[in-house]
Amino acid sequence: MNAPTKTHRKILVTQALPYANAPLHLGHILEAVQTDVWVRFQNILGNECLFFCADDTHGTPVMLKAKELGITPEELVKKIHSDHKETYKLYNIGFTNFHTTHSEENKKLSEHIYLKAKDNNLITRRTIEQLYDEKESMFLSDRFVKGSCPKCNELDQHADGCNKCGATYDIKEIKDPISVISGTKPITKESEHIFFDLPKKLDVLKEFLSTADLQKPISNKLSEWLNDDLQQWDISRDAPYFGFKIPGEDNKYFYVWVDAPIGYMASMDNWASANGRTMKELWSDSSEYEIYHFIGKDIAYFHGLFWPALLSAANFKLPDGVYVHGFLTINGEKMSKSKGTGILAKEFASLCDPETLRYYLSAKLNNKVEDIDLNFEDYAQRVNSDLVGKYLNIASRCSLFIKKNNYELSKSINKELIDKLILSRESIEEHYETRNYSKAIRSIMDLADIVNKYINDEMPWKKEQEEAAFIASSALNAFNILTIYLRPILPKLTEEAFKFLNNNKISFLDVSEELTNNINDYKPLLQRIDPIIIPEEEAMTNDNNYINIDEFSAVDLRVARIIEASLVEGADKLLQLKLDVGELGERQVFAGIKKAYDPDTLKEKLVILVSNLAPRQMKFGLSEGMVLASSDDEGIYLISPDKGAKPGLRVK
Ligand code: 2FM
Ligand code: ZN
Repeated sequence: MNAPTKTHRKILVTQALPYANAPLHLGHILEAVQTDVWVRFQNILGNECLFFCADDTHGTPVMLKAKELGITPEELVKKIHSDHKETYKLYNIGFTNFHTTHSEENKKLSEHIYLKAKDNNLITRRTIEQLYDEKESMFLSDRFVKGSCPKCNELDQHADGCNKCGATYDIKEIKDPISVISGTKPITKESEHIFFDLPKKLDVLKEFLSTADLQKPISNKLSEWLNDDLQQWDISRDAPYFGFKIPGEDNKYFYVWVDAPIGYMASMDNWASANGRTMKELWSDSSEYEIYHFIGKDIAYFHGLFWPALLSAANFKLPDGVYVHGFLTINGEKMSKSKGTGILAKEFASLCDPETLRYYLSAKLNNKVEDIDLNFEDYAQRVNSDLVGKYLNIASRCSLFIKKNNYELSKSINKELIDKLILSRESIEEHYETRNYSKAIRSIMDLADIVNKYINDEMPWKKEQEEAAFIASSALNAFNILTIYLRPILPKLTEEAFKFLNNNKISFLDVSEELTNNINDYKPLLQRIDPIIIPEEEAMTNDNNYINIDEFSAVDLRVARIIEASLVEGADKLLQLKLDVGELGERQVFAGIKKAYDPDTLKEKLVILVSNLAPRQMKFGLSEGMVLASSDDEGIYLISPDKGAKPGLRVK
């Protein structure tokens, strides 16, 4: 028999906090599933494993999103909070608490940690220069500035690097910078910022990297950063900013990455007060809890350096481990958080049973930092072959023989078969513990193969009732063990399976317990699934062809009346148009429509003019805008408004 599993570990687990400016996509679900499976596994073993998360509510993107929607940031984060909660619930993510960083607990903890850091001489200040949007009266972080690459002159590049030549540069080097928010040219402006003195925590961080449970590539990368010149960390942002004010400062706010991880604690604090527990007991310098963060590879820097430094500044226990996963790709394509693309988790849950996604992702998850691909064909194939074809097949094949036996299982069962399943317990536990869920699933499905082979070989359908019941009872006891093993991954499906078996001894510690109750009728617990097709409008494509309403509104389209149209000497394609644009006066435009229109037929015709296109000096004269037309191989077709439209009217 196996040695009893070590029990009574006390563990706090967090997953990264989703931003409160958009619904959850499948990338969020990947992380939630990875974390939830681990937490469920720990609790099933008899450990006390608490699982905390919250919405990450602060920062400029939330502020701008709220503005775009015409609501306050508070209203936005409230709305998103219920949406996120509902979505996680669909996927059976069993948080102990899902809180928000825009909370009293978080404000208090953020101020506390900051003031401790200040007491410990870890806070400095310095004036820095930043790009500033005069129209919006706000400083611009890198992501809100675009311009031309300083190396190759490619237009429309972000401030952090060039898509064409790959050059990286400082935001100040970018040519012809434009604020993405207002479309205006930013100025450079000075402001005093507050810094956390990260270099003073060098020794603490070195110690952390050598003792915490970190994956090798992650600790290597973090050490590299550490050994490179460690910089002071800018922790303040100027108004307008949606966040917490820094105590003792005028109009300065904590940078969102300060109060976001503190949000882990705030979520615990919020739960603790409602459940007669204290933060001293959960997370303090004397905490007995092991602490683990599950995160994506893009935020290892924050969790591996800034966060332990902040914690140490205020004398909190440092995390015992940071577990990093790769990104989710869909059918081999990258999903992009910054572009807001990716399949929405809620939509996906309406297309297929979320338990099957939990299964598929688990079947691919390991403890490496590798990306994981969700391939729709493979997904259907995997679910059908493993869950329906192997695992549930055992129950559906055997239940009838027991029904014929008045639903009673045989008193004796095939020990040899059962022992094979019990024997794998330790290694399956080890796979769960080390987050190698793919290996756990492979072992479990190998065992399911053994059970199906046993049924095939024994052919209960050819046997008398008693012997048939013996074979089916043995297989159903094996099915019960498989169900126990799958429980962390498939909480809902296994709950249904246990109901069918009428069994409530469902811990890993119970695998040696034989089933004793009469079973129930078997009703199919899962249907075979077809490869998923995401309806066009629901698939958020990666094209990035979308513009937002502000971008559209930036184009000033006007109804214009052609006062006069004439040929242009020396031009093969152009006609010269004189336009009446109502309140905007008269305009002259050179349009490439000569091939399709006789100028005499155009007089009095209404057309659409792009009135705010920068005027262009041509050799024939100044062209003040552009008239809209479509074209194909056969012709050019001017776009006209419907009857009744007046010159100068805006098209919107
Ligand atoms: O990258 C993100 O999506 C962040 N919202 C994660 C924050 S995790 C934590 F530190 F709060
Ligand atoms: Zn370039």
